[in-house]
Amino acid sequence: MEMAVLTAGIPVLGICYGQQLIAHLLGGDVRPGDKGEFGLALLDLTGEESDLLRGVADHQQVWMSHRDKVAAPPAGFRILATTSTCDTGAIEDSARRIYAVQFHPEVVHTTEGMRILRNFLFDICGCEKDWNAGQRIPLVEDLIRQRAGDRNIFFFVSGGVDSTVAFMLCLDALGSDRVRGVYVDTGLMREGETEFVRQTFGAFGLIRIEECEEEFLAALEGVREPELKRHIIGEQFVKVQERIIHEMGLLSGRWILGQGTIYPDTIESGGTAKAATIKTHHNRVPGIQKLIESGHIVEPLADFYKDEVRAIGRELGLAPQLLERHPFPGPGLAIRCLCAEEDQPFTRMPDGYLLPVRSVGVQGDSRSYAPVLAIEAFPSAGARLQDEATELVNRSRGVNRVIARVASRESLEHQQVFASTITHGRVALLRRADAVVRELSRDSEFDKEVWQFPVILIPAGHGEARDSVVLRPIQSVDGMTADSVTMPDELLREMARRLMEIPEIAAVYYDLTHKPPGTIEWE
Ligand code: XMP
Repeated sequence: MEMAVLTAGIPVLGICYGQQLIAHLLGGDVRPGDKGEFGLALLDLTGEESDLLRGVADHQQVWMSHRDKVAAPPAGFRILATTSTCDTGAIEDSARRIYAVQFHPEVVHTTEGMRILRNFLFDICGCEKDWNAGQRIPLVEDLIRQRAGDRNIFFFVSGGVDSTVAFMLCLDALGSDRVRGVYVDTGLMREGETEFVRQTFGAFGLIRIEECEEEFLAALEGVREPELKRHIIGEQFVKVQERIIHEMGLLSGRWILGQGTIYPDTIESGGTAKAATIKTHHNRVPGIQKLIESGHIVEPLADFYKDEVRAIGRELGLAPQLLERHPFPGPGLAIRCLCAEEDQPFTRMPDGYLLPVRSVGVQGDSRSYAPVLAIEAFPSAGARLQDEATELVNRSRGVNRVIARVASRESLEHQQVFASTITHGRVALLRRADAVVRELSRDSEFDKEVWQFPVILIPAGHGEARDSVVLRPIQSVDGMTADSVTMPDELLREMARRLMEIPEIAAVYYDLTHKPPGTIEWE
């Protein structure tokens, strides 16, 4: 197979292991290096004429990640560049149009990486320079029609960007008689979400809304463990979906399943692994499993990245407020509504108070649950407080998150954590607080500056006000790492003022923790 690619007469670019594979397959010498080369390296061009490195500076920073190396390239290859550790940083056989680099041009740390990729794609392969995902719509729709044949398509839609765009593509391809969606209202959604979905899809009776709040909340009664919550919600989804599949006769052979899987969901790495299991937890439903196994499935966005999905959505005429939505976790507000086993006081510490709620952190490769440190500070001082928070987490054992008190009815020393579970009342309280935050973020356009803005309810307070709100605005590229974002002073004051108008809210806090050490969500 690899040989076929190399003899097909098409341009090939090998990257890192790809360079070693090419060298090995074409008769070069690949062997273990004396030392590894991980991270930044300096690449020196040898001065050889090169299509791949045309216009690239003689010395430049690249990102390396290897120990094995190509000791001698195959016959016909010229060496274009070296580093102090690697004599074959880049090689090229322009007659066969085979190119290979040991470094990673695709990462931002390789300063001229994009130029190298452009050289390859535009000059060597002759790709269109103004390619955009929107132009691919007719092709994708052809594929949908081929795949569907004379069958119809149904979706479980979530209101999120991917499943909505996938649905709309199928609708465009097949027409409104042949595409249907089901939206499961778990009762754990944000305010107005079901209405939003109804408006987005409702026009032609395209969607069935399954009201399941009571079922989900009953299943969660008395549950406090974060992972158990996720498990129960997953199981409940399975039940509801199985029921719908049978009620709608979706296994009759006349239907195929549409899914909003996007390219990163299909790679088992980095931040996408979780998304993959999250989306594929639908696939644990036996009925859905049958459809997948028999190839009754269409995933029109499986080759696209998120920004391309948005471009396709724009081309289809979908509203910006739909396409720019922040990610929202499948288990919904349940994992933002923290619970506690028993009443417990806050503990005085040298730097603040320890709140005995359990929040997740990532330290090293594992997730840990630990109490939270609350400090007295108003988070309006640029990134300084976030830096201090990082130091505090590094210094304090058993803490993976630091929050600042923004407003409260009582001082921290008089507050405590209350035994609590997920109830209708607490979910409604969180929904209300979340709606206030969303409204103010949208009106001030702060929502455009953040990647996600979880609002968390913690069972901490005093007297009758037994819950507090934590604001967690973050910036991120892919959810794998994240930065706590500083909010404009005035906006934060207004948010706190509006939240403190809710009598059940005892305090408002601001999460100062980057990821790592704290996760984006609290559970
Ligand atoms: P963490 O909390 O791990 O979150 O930093 C990273 C991203 O994943 C989302 N997330 C979830 N999404 N089901 C989902 O659909 C889940 O159980 C879940 N947990 C976390 C989170 O919102 C963030 O975007």
